[in-house]
Amino acid sequence: MAFGGRTGGAAVDVVVVGGGVIGCAVARKAALGGLSVVVVERGRPGAEASSAAAGMLSPLAEANEPGAFLDLLLRARAEYPDFVDALRSETGADVAYSGAGTLYVALREEDEAELEERLHWQSAAGLGVERLTADEARALEPALSPHVRWALRFAGDHQVDNRRLALALWSAAARAGAEFRLGCDVASVLREGDRVAGVELAGGERIAAEAVVLAGGCWAGRLSGLPRPLPVEPVMGQLVSVETLPPTFRHVVDSPRCYLVPRADGRLIVGATAERVGYRRAVTPAGVMRLLAGALEIAPSLADAPLAETWSGLRPGTPDGLPILGRDPDLSNLLYATGHFRNGILLAPITGEIVGALLLGEDAAVDLAPFAIDRF
Ligand code: GLY
Repeated sequence: MAFGGRTGGAAVDVVVVGGGVIGCAVARKAALGGLSVVVVERGRPGAEASSAAAGMLSPLAEANEPGAFLDLLLRARAEYPDFVDALRSETGADVAYSGAGTLYVALREEDEAELEERLHWQSAAGLGVERLTADEARALEPALSPHVRWALRFAGDHQVDNRRLALALWSAAARAGAEFRLGCDVASVLREGDRVAGVELAGGERIAAEAVVLAGGCWAGRLSGLPRPLPVEPVMGQLVSVETLPPTFRHVVDSPRCYLVPRADGRLIVGATAERVGYRRAVTPAGVMRLLAGALEIAPSLADAPLAETWSGLRPGTPDGLPILGRDPDLSNLLYATGHFRNGILLAPITGEIVGALLLGEDAAVDLAPFAIDRF
């Protein structure tokens, strides 16, 4: 069932709760499909999980086993180039899509088991992972520490500048006709029988809608009026960047303790912590110390690189680490697009396609059972 063609005096076809990359991607797709869309964002689009990221498009570093989640990540990565082209033609924005691949390095004896396990299942699944000796890894990236033992190479990986992406998606959604209500908290989802009827804002204003999409990241489960618990919890990520000109690395370098993402302008992003400390967001001495220690372990020459920036954001974690996508089983015009945890940047375009398609009455093109809310 599509949501176009308003009935019963509904003001808009779709309210999207949350204006991060996920909410904007859904809003863009729905608006491009001709639906009237309002995005309600409590702060500024892209300020939270969309920023607590470095823009790695790295399925093989993020999935821990074959299966539906890995398949979704791989498909998302494969579809990224077309998405980036479309964004450029819609907005003129360059989101700095680039990639020499990822090197996943073992630096300590205890790291080797994790890399061996990844190598084992990824090779068995024919995923094109390469095992590099320390010398081979250092030939690709001379700044790597002499303590690197060996490495995996994920040659198909890319990255985007996630801040640019958040702005570009906001712009694309707005250009397609989505209206943005910024600085507004949604207090509750309004229900009428077995359907949702819209949302009520914290100040009491109501926005009537044919469909509501929950894309509010770790805040998505805090609304009243939801038909069931929505188990998303904040997982804080702290990040640091340093200036390295000329750039120290070409590849993204990942390790069991931190990752390094080189931007073309010489910034090297060091991320990220994963801290379950509630809705408190901060940059802490302990977090920064851990990140910098991890970075120097990978590349001792970074010790003299000027510190550029520190920041943090809250990712939406779920009990199984998988996103929550698709319709509510009881309220079919309530849709979930949240819980993307560490993979919101990679999964934003495909989530926009999936949830946008549902709003437009089309098939999702992906089996959503593994990501359904009723798996909990
Ligand atoms: N995608 C990596 C992170 O969330 O830290």
